[in-house]
Amino acid sequence: MPKPDKHVFVCTQHRAPGHPRGSCGTKGCTDVMTEFMNEIQKRNLFETIGLTNTGCLGPCMLGASVLVYPDGIMYGEVKKEQVKTIVEKHLLGGEPVKELQVPTEVW
Ligand code: FES
Repeated sequence: MPKPDKHVFVCTQHRAPGHPRGSCGTKGCTDVMTEFMNEIQKRNLFETIGLTNTGCLGPCMLGASVLVYPDGIMYGEVKKEQVKTIVEKHLLGGEPVKELQVPTEVW
């Protein structure tokens, strides 16, 4: 596998109901992960975009959390409907989607 241009990490951490930190598992992370897979497949980006589901990335209250390297950009409260925008603007266009980034005090 060639080294990807961008690598997307989607938090798919689940925690028990009532846990004080909550989790991306209750905030649509599975749908977000599926939508990234669909976009990558639809556009045949397998050799340029890496996609990995991961455990907790930190800002649980702002899930679903998505982290993009090598840029080190953290997106928060990501919904599946916003995945296409991240793919087109950031992963393909090279411009992070500022309105979806978590606040600088978080990341
Ligand atoms: S559970 Fe997703 S960032 Fe912590």
